[in-house]
Amino acid sequence: MIKNKVFHLQTENTSYIIRVLESGQIENLYYGKKIREMDDYSPLYEKVSCETPNSIMYDRKLYPNLTLDNMCLEYSSIGKGDLRESLVELSLEDGSTTVDFKVTGFKEYEGREKIKGLPSAHSYNEDVKTLEISLYDEIIDVTMTLYYHVFYNANVITRHVKLKNGTISSLKVNRLMSMQLDIPKCNHTLVTFDGAWAREMERHDKKLCHGIFVNDSKCGTSSNRHNPFVIIRDNECTEEAGECYGVNLVYSGNHAEIIEVNQYDKIRILNGINPYLFQFNLGMDEELETPEAVLSYSKEGLNGLSHNMHKFVNENIVPENFRYKERPVLINNWEATYFNFNESKLMGLANKAADLGIELFVLDDGWFGNRNDDKSSLGDWFVNTKKLKGGLEGICKKVNALGMDFGLWFEPEMISEDSELYRKHPDWAVTSPGRTPSTGRNQLILDLTRQEVRDYLVDSISKILDSADIKYIKWDMNRNFSDMYSRNLGANGQGEFFHRYVLGLYDIYERLTSAYPNILFEGCSSGGNRFDLGILCYMPQIWTSDDTDANERVTIQTGASYGYPQSTMGAHVSVCPNHQSLRVTGIDTRFNVASFGVLGYELNLSEISSFDRNAIKEQVKFYKENRSVLQFGDFYRIKNIYDTNNPSWMAVSKDKTEAVLGFYQRLQKPNPSGDIIRTIGLSDDLRYNVKARREKINIKVFGDLINQLSPVRIKKDGILHEVISKVYTMDSENEEYTVYGDLLNEAGFKATQQFACSGYNDQVRLLGDFGSRLYKITSVNVTK
Ligand code: DGJ
Repeated sequence: MIKNKVFHLQTENTSYIIRVLESGQIENLYYGKKIREMDDYSPLYEKVSCETPNSIMYDRKLYPNLTLDNMCLEYSSIGKGDLRESLVELSLEDGSTTVDFKVTGFKEYEGREKIKGLPSAHSYNEDVKTLEISLYDEIIDVTMTLYYHVFYNANVITRHVKLKNGTISSLKVNRLMSMQLDIPKCNHTLVTFDGAWAREMERHDKKLCHGIFVNDSKCGTSSNRHNPFVIIRDNECTEEAGECYGVNLVYSGNHAEIIEVNQYDKIRILNGINPYLFQFNLGMDEELETPEAVLSYSKEGLNGLSHNMHKFVNENIVPENFRYKERPVLINNWEATYFNFNESKLMGLANKAADLGIELFVLDDGWFGNRNDDKSSLGDWFVNTKKLKGGLEGICKKVNALGMDFGLWFEPEMISEDSELYRKHPDWAVTSPGRTPSTGRNQLILDLTRQEVRDYLVDSISKILDSADIKYIKWDMNRNFSDMYSRNLGANGQGEFFHRYVLGLYDIYERLTSAYPNILFEGCSSGGNRFDLGILCYMPQIWTSDDTDANERVTIQTGASYGYPQSTMGAHVSVCPNHQSLRVTGIDTRFNVASFGVLGYELNLSEISSFDRNAIKEQVKFYKENRSVLQFGDFYRIKNIYDTNNPSWMAVSKDKTEAVLGFYQRLQKPNPSGDIIRTIGLSDDLRYNVKARREKINIKVFGDLINQLSPVRIKKDGILHEVISKVYTMDSENEEYTVYGDLLNEAGFKATQQFACSGYNDQVRLLGDFGSRLYKITSVNVTK
């Protein structure tokens, strides 16, 4: 047995220090800003020299005064005195539940091994080191291994657990979390990202106090209710400064983040597969491996933590072929046509898109089986030749001839009762014996725990992919689980259903993405109902939300940005009034928000005005010129200390020579005070040119105020008003400075006056409700 052994894991800026106790458990000594390696770590030990009142003494004879309840531990089980939430809970054949794992050995090596059947963070850039600690409970003959993978450059440590049954004929695992992190003192706030359909990722801050808080999903997906990414921040931590921990999970099913503050003010954080309805059976010699938990620490505030997470996702999560690969600008036909299309309508859209510089045409729902609404055909993955006379190959070739790639929507996990597949295999649907199944969007879920179902999907999707030059797939999933039951798992195995479904899903992803490594996959689940690191291991981008309203998207994308980089967030410009909110926002504001993600358009380009068409052409040009910084630059949320009405974002290139700043306005104030726009992340010592992106202003925004200038009376919205607005547009303000970064970072620039009803010239910033502006910032020291 190894005793008193200290492991000091280090990333570029953090230290994670643990030690094996005399009694064989592992104490967490420190997780925080990097400290040097030393000979003596005893100042970090928990000091207990007398019995702790009203506590369970672990072993009075061998380890007097040791109580596990007042220790920061790396894992915890049941029955030996730690009365907090535990990492592992087992039921043994004799009904006993007490478990006590002790360290027996360890291994350290460069690189990492993949987790069997689950996605895991990649080690492409060879900056990964692994520590494996083996533990054993000799009374029950069960082994547990704790894995630590250290991603030096990203300041991330990932953890997961493997449990192996020895000789018990049937071991029931009621809970096996991926990691446990104990923090010695509570002065912290829990930040979660919660929501619903069309309003995902809203940030909520909860000051922690004694008790237990659970952030979880029981939807079967990682859910739009509660994203698996959470932050535990010091109460004083802000966007720009202070200590915080980020916790995420590489998993796409039911998850739980359990946060407990105990009687000694210690915080325990557990995350992993949700114990809800979970019970996994392990026969002799069988093992269970958990998904990978992701941990990061930053002393540079929430922006610093986001940088760690973004780097980790861009470098170690997304598939190698898409690492830092710029994503194409796409047009999606969904909101343009819904189910009502044929080839000529689609080609009309494709033609217009190609003229505007768009690079990828995505054919959404409705191209297969007999699908004309959302009531039928899921599962029938063959092309509807009534709608697409030349088949997929025909339309794909025509799109390619316009210089665009072709992409396609699927919803493979689902089955409609009105489908050929259901008529042939009704038992493939997830239903509970004897009950009429409940539905979501009129559909049932396929039982992916079954090999034959997975084979059918891989087969039918591959046939489609081989039939045309498809460069992109949108993988949708539009309902949560009900009637959970699998005919595959028997009476004893239903506690494995949710997890085995996710394993089945990953099996399909693995097979498809390795057979078609160059196809760009975009994950989707009614928007962001499955926005997680598990999906991102196969699909470099995810449709962030069905809500394309620019004002809402500021909130949604801000929330997502805490844990996920811009390169992962699908963001589209759609029509107004917006289909989700009926709100009207300007075409450029829609772009100014969407451009801080993976840009797409999702509107009927044949029916937009020439004003909007010209604007889009300019947008696509600007986006392509700045795509690298917008998708992969260091992202900052700027807390505008002077005005909370104006959230702002910034993306800065790695070498700090280029940046784009987005300034957004919720509501227009009459006669407003001046805006001070402060940057973050520029080099103090570089000289920069800051220039407002010029937009066109439609004179109709002035309504009948136009008569203040016009020599003849113009009726608002009358024919004359319409004609003038078509031939005459105005430019937005002309604002530009060339100054050093320290001025911009410390003082900010006082932006030109907003419209105040008293006049208009080329210095007036006309934003209005939901207005916005992009600023291009370029270093003038470097010639490019
Ligand atoms: C839900 C998605 O989020 C939408 O973007 C669209 O693809 C529809 N499904 C199609 O049914």
